Amino acid sequence: MATAAAPRSAENPEARRRRPTARTRRPRPERLVAGQRVGAWRVEGELGRGGMASVYAVSHTGFGKRAALKVAHRSALADDTVEGGRLAPETFLREARIVHLIDHPGVCDVFATGTFDGRPYLAMERLHGETLGALAKRGPLPRHEALGILIELCAILGAAHAKGVVHRDLKLENVFVTPLAGARRVRLLDWGIARVLAEPDPLKGMVAGTLTYVSPEQVTTGDVTAAADIYALGVVAYQLLLGAPPFTSTTDLELIWKHVNAAPPAPAQLRPDVPEELADVLVAMLAKDAAERPALDEVAAALEAARAAAIAAPPPVVEPTAAPAPAPISVARAAAVVALRPLRPPFDALGRPAPLVDPRKLAWLALAGAAALSVIAFVTG
Ligand SMILES: Nc1ncnc2c1ncn2[C@@H]1O[C@H](COP(=O)(O)OP(=O)(O)O)[C@@H](O)[C@H]1O
Ligand SMILES: [Mg+2]
Repeated sequence: MATAAAPRSAENPEARRRRPTARTRRPRPERLVAGQRVGAWRVEGELGRGGMASVYAVSHTGFGKRAALKVAHRSALADDTVEGGRLAPETFLREARIVHLIDHPGVCDVFATGTFDGRPYLAMERLHGETLGALAKRGPLPRHEALGILIELCAILGAAHAKGVVHRDLKLENVFVTPLAGARRVRLLDWGIARVLAEPDPLKGMVAGTLTYVSPEQVTTGDVTAAADIYALGVVAYQLLLGAPPFTSTTDLELIWKHVNAAPPAPAQLRPDVPEELADVLVAMLAKDAAERPALDEVAAALEAARAAAIAAPPPVVEPTAAPAPAPISVARAAAVVALRPLRPPFDALGRPAPLVDPRKLAWLALAGAAALSVIAFVTG
């Protein structure tokens, strides 16, 4: 026999409380599935996943617009603070404001924001193609094509820097390439941890970035300027043109130490046929002192000249001979670096990598180890 729901009345106030409240409701599964609704959007499938969010193909339930929905990982969020490496929901949503501040075709349009199950999301243009990471994994690009992509990245970064925005997380996985009439269109994604120079930095006091690409100043003084993007672009250029990033290591500490102290390998060591002028600019982009790095327009001019030369006399496409890229940094290890790194040079008086944490703080480290598992990885390798 079906039982009728108890009517709500002044005599029966409990009936009103039957519906689960936000506090009592169990959180929904982290991963969204096809057919699920998120506000006005219906999920079709997953497009990609990063350290802070997953991105889903969605369509609007009202008028069918296709979009990409970037939904923050629950583990990336804090209530109202970024302490411990977690983002406040409004910090996550800054990305929407920043892309409009830049307003460049190389930056993906964001047209709505919202919150689903306590997780902030951005609705943005759905891109077709793949990340530069996926593209590069399939094999080395012809030099003129790699240079073309780097030149486009210079233009996008130039537009951002002109508005006082530093991307701070330029890497292969944050560059998206779309096939376009026999060529490629390049977009720089993921402005989630960008620094707006005119505003207080919500990530102050943390190493926000990815260790393979992080500039020396990001892990020492924390003084992030546009030159940090030029350093990261230098790393991307090494990967695309020479077959490997300048620095690799199996440990985070050694990798940081190399960024701060080690000279990058000479480009000719990795690709003997790399033109000298191009080699010089690649090394200059990786200068330890941010003030010594070339300006973006100098970089772009050097890349343009190299591209014209590569089109006139295409060099052979050769498989990289250099060491493979480092294994991705685990969330736990990365989080430990993020949460605990002090802003001081990570090397001791003898020039050896020093522990990032004062030994007296090791007890704290043990405690933080458990917490680190839930700390967002700004550093995702
Ligand atoms: N607009 C988009 N269209 C299609 N795929 C996207 C789009 N934005 C992001 N992606 C995919 O999702 C991945 C994660 O997105 P990203 O913004 O980098 O998130 P995170 O901040 O977590 O790194 C990207 O590497 C890419 O594969
Ligand atoms: Mg990303």
